Amino acid sequence: MAFAGSPLAEARAIDPCFYTDPQWFAVDQARLLRPGWQLVGNTAGLAAPGDVLVAEVCGASVLVVRQGDGSLRGFHNVCRHRAGPLLRESCSGLTRLRCLYHGWSYGLDGRLKAAPEMAEAAAFDPADIALAPVQVEVFQGLVFVSLAETPLAFADLVAGIADRIAPIDMAEMRFERRIVYEVAADWKTYIDNYLEGYHVPHVHPALLPALNYGEYRTENSNWYSLQHSPVKPGVDAYGDGPMFYYWLWPNTMLNILPGRLQTNRVIADGPGHCRVEFDYYYTPANRHRADADIAFTDIVQAEDAAICAEVQRGLASGGYTPGRLSPRREAGVWKFHQLLAAAYAAG
Ligand code: FES
Ligand SMILES: [Fe+2]
Repeated sequence: MAFAGSPLAEARAIDPCFYTDPQWFAVDQARLLRPGWQLVGNTAGLAAPGDVLVAEVCGASVLVVRQGDGSLRGFHNVCRHRAGPLLRESCSGLTRLRCLYHGWSYGLDGRLKAAPEMAEAAAFDPADIALAPVQVEVFQGLVFVSLAETPLAFADLVAGIADRIAPIDMAEMRFERRIVYEVAADWKTYIDNYLEGYHVPHVHPALLPALNYGEYRTENSNWYSLQHSPVKPGVDAYGDGPMFYYWLWPNTMLNILPGRLQTNRVIADGPGHCRVEFDYYYTPANRHRADADIAFTDIVQAEDAAICAEVQRGLASGGYTPGRLSPRREAGVWKFHQLLAAAYAAG
């Protein structure tokens, strides 16, 4: 891979084919996104046994189910009979998962309990049948799922974050609202843009006064990149204190501001297109900031979506070859590209 292993001081952007070629989109889905840890929601609706979160991961529907012993288990939302769905939306207090197609029913642990009108089927034992499992982890109230059998160790993905943001604990924030944005750009174009503050003075005139651009820093870890700066005092949408913008491999962002958490899921829903879900969480004391915060983010997000769409057209133009990166301002982009290169090379 031409771009693997370049030191930051020598780094270039990556070839535009990775952003524009549908073949690479398919590679991203199969090798990076499906096996990667995908944020699917939070534990607020999973308090009691039989509570179920239904979520979509890379086009697949999955279930996260609270067990009688308090643990969480994940399954494909796909019946073992003829692939019918078990649930269409999240719900609570279930004792069984009953397929909506022909009524096979499964325990909360995924084992088949009953299959109507199967008495004549030879060598058919429900005890041999169970829903296909998916991996589930929880980090400070946020639920992540991986469709890989042996994904990256989740502890490695988030190593150091809890200590770094302390005394903030994201589990103390309450979900407020989800806003979804459509972006006419490849998911990697959107993430590249997120990973640098270099564009802020040029693209976000309203955001610049809220940030201390001179103190804006990027720190890379094994599996994430952190951008941080102090918030300037007196910005209505936020309280005072540090802000942490985490990007987690491959496509999750945790934007932690005083009293508020905004998560972003970058959903690659087609070549040259992505959908970004913004979930807003607040501490009770900061909930009053929600409307101003979300309205402000709307402005910034529209600016980001517009520039990403223009960049996507530039990448597809035939008039672009990879340019040099700013070591001071684009270390996060470089980190992402290094991880992409490693994942592509791993085949
Ligand atoms: S597909 Fe589930 S019972 Fe038939
Ligand atoms: Fe931006």
